[in-house]
Amino acid sequence: MKLISVVGARPNFMKIAPFIKEINTYNILAKDRIEHVLVHTGQHYDNRMSKTFFKALNIPKPNYNLKIGSGSHGKQTARMIEGLEELLLSENPDYLLLYGDTNSTLSGAIAASKLNIPIVHVEAGLRSNNRKMPEKINRIVCDHLSSLLFSPTQSGFQNLINEGFNSTNQAPFSADNPGIFHYGVIMYDNSLHFADLALNKSNILAENGLASNKYVLATIHRDHNTDIPENLMSIFEALITISRQLKVVLPIHPRTKKILQSTEQKKLLRKIKKSNNLLLIPPVSFLDMIQLEKNTSLIITDSGGVQKESYFFNKPCIVLRPETEWIEILETGKAKLVSADYKKILIAFDTLINLDKSEFPHIFGDGKAAEFICETII
Ligand code: UD1
Repeated sequence: MKLISVVGARPNFMKIAPFIKEINTYNILAKDRIEHVLVHTGQHYDNRMSKTFFKALNIPKPNYNLKIGSGSHGKQTARMIEGLEELLLSENPDYLLLYGDTNSTLSGAIAASKLNIPIVHVEAGLRSNNRKMPEKINRIVCDHLSSLLFSPTQSGFQNLINEGFNSTNQAPFSADNPGIFHYGVIMYDNSLHFADLALNKSNILAENGLASNKYVLATIHRDHNTDIPENLMSIFEALITISRQLKVVLPIHPRTKKILQSTEQKKLLRKIKKSNNLLLIPPVSFLDMIQLEKNTSLIITDSGGVQKESYFFNKPCIVLRPETEWIEILETGKAKLVSADYKKILIAFDTLINLDKSEFPHIFGDGKAAEFICETII
């Protein structure tokens, strides 16, 4: 069997890692080898956004790198489709595997479906109910073109049923007869596997003068937060206020950095620089991020992945978005949705900083999602 996986952006890399590990195990034990071809679209290209993740997560060098880079959504997606179509025609895989909700995921879905190559979507069914988010559009399109859909949560599985997918469909599966499954979160596999390694290999706390449980970890990169000046301002004002009480460390996404350096945001950047307890650091490697997450008092983020990791490590989380596709976390009360609202961020901080951190019920499976997906495909 020949599989092709397409990745391109940071969150895709996290999801491919446990899957590749699983295929390697299968190939050692089974008679019939799975041939796995890894394609990097080049959506993320900075070393800190790409190469460091391949290294830390033991992902092999991609067989192909399309080197597409940044661009408007239309241009970026179109160039990826063109490159992927050519590649799929020459490689002719049995299945194309796509992960999450990035533009690389969307491009793979369009290229493969036009060539009648069956698609496997890992992290299917999640909906944020906000069609202004490019990721939401990407998810819907990819799901509805897929033959095998793996939802990480029960609510995601239910979303698929609500949109007309039939849970009683039987193999052989196809785009006209798709199979839907609920398994658990593939990134949980990673976190369990790498958490101990981070303890020995990461110096990020010492490098930044951080003491365990004495700082807040923040990340901001969603266009809704970075590209709307009032939102960016509210979030950073809140972080500055919080930093008077507890140190705040923020690994900065290139998009956010570029915007803070623009002439419109000069005043804000000056203010940030003046607040000694708000620490902006370059994007960090996967192991460093795990180490930061494991030792923080609380997380403030607009990332889907970081929201989940926050829960894996029993940390309360303030979500800088008006909605989330990870509603299970909200239902436990361990995370709060606040949008880019200064007051709401501070109220959530006061509530969550004193939260009982002991009881985080198991809601994301057993850390064996990659095994389940691999077996189901076979
Ligand atoms: C993408 C994903 C998002 C994911 C995020 C994680 C889409 C639609 N969104 O958003 O779901 O949470 O990755 O990071 O695919 N840039 C660099 N260097 C890089 C990569 C990006 O400087 O290596 C800058 C460029 O200015 C680029 C901007 O960041 O225009 C945005 O990058 P892009 O890949 O388009 O989207 P992300 O915001 O990273």
